[in-house]
Amino acid sequence: MHLPKHVTLKEVGPRDGLQNEKVHIATEDKIQLVNLLSQSGLNYIEVTSFVHPKWIPQLADAVEVLQAIKREKDITYAALVPNMRGLERALLAGIDEASIFMSASESHNQKNINKTILETLPILKEVVIGAKAENKHVRGYISTVIGCPYEGYIHPEKVLQVTDKLLEMGVDEISLGDTIGVGVPTQVEYLLEELLKRYPVEKFAMHFHDTRGTALANITKSLEMGITKFDSSLGGLGGCPYAKGATGNVATEDLLYLLDGMGIATSVNMEKLLDAVRFIEQRLGKDVASKQMAIVRNEGSANVT
Ligand code: HMG
Ligand code: MG
Repeated sequence: MHLPKHVTLKEVGPRDGLQNEKVHIATEDKIQLVNLLSQSGLNYIEVTSFVHPKWIPQLADAVEVLQAIKREKDITYAALVPNMRGLERALLAGIDEASIFMSASESHNQKNINKTILETLPILKEVVIGAKAENKHVRGYISTVIGCPYEGYIHPEKVLQVTDKLLEMGVDEISLGDTIGVGVPTQVEYLLEELLKRYPVEKFAMHFHDTRGTALANITKSLEMGITKFDSSLGGLGGCPYAKGATGNVATEDLLYLLDGMGIATSVNMEKLLDAVRFIEQRLGKDVASKQMAIVRNEGSANVT
């Protein structure tokens, strides 16, 4: 198996994780969570989201959180930005990178951002221009790249069409989201083969939700295809409230176990990462779903290869 030597983990827990939690997390706890994650060696943290607070009430304190975290110099602090109103708030709060987002499927796009795909493109283009004018990197998420809860299987051609548009706008990196965790490795391979015919592998990151337990298998396939950037969420928290049946992301600690075991370097320290997981578990008042935390609960420490 030909594998990359180094992988970057992009931690989306404070955003994708918390947006799907009903228990209200206090602003100071969100700040502490990000600070703990900053101590774990991660070099990318998606801190929050500047969507409409009515759509995601849990993250209504986005400006306060971003302004109060303790920033470490080698970490990119990013946030979700849907439109110019969101970008204004995000720039005020001092984001390093803006993450715009849309779907490959028409129905999920409409349910999630209240616009058709065609209506969304000029809105996102404005955000890219505005962010670039402030020298910010822009990441573009494409959701439902394999399956949509409303339309079923999504053909790679649809993903290619949206990828073309986002890269034409000047987006620096595309994160391909299996939003509802339906994909299997053969589908991931087909999707990436099609995209990599047109674009270099460095343009892509993968964002797997683990609804059916296929995320690590899909990540292994992506590694074989040369992908070196993966989104993950501490504790396996996460999900899109506007995608029926979407549950948690692949857990950062489970992904780290896989990568460590395969001898693929990351900058992340397992014990420090687990400090952040224990903290949020306590604040959420429930056991998180990751395998590593189940081992810690049973055996008192993480299982190291
Ligand atoms: P809309 O209602 O169509 O917005 O929502 P609008 O442009 O028609 O504006 C209506 C009003 O909202 C206006 O106020 C705007 O100013 C205000 P008024 O003039 O009537 O007083 N407004 C805002 N206020 C604050 N912040 C803003 C903002 N925008 C407009 N940013 C919108 C459109 C996109 C805002 C809405 O649909 C929305 O916020 N959707 C977000 C849903 C969401 O967060 N979903 C989860 C994240 S995506 C995800 O999880 C997938 C991902 O993880 C990848 C994967 O897993 O696939 C990324
Ligand atoms: Mg997601």
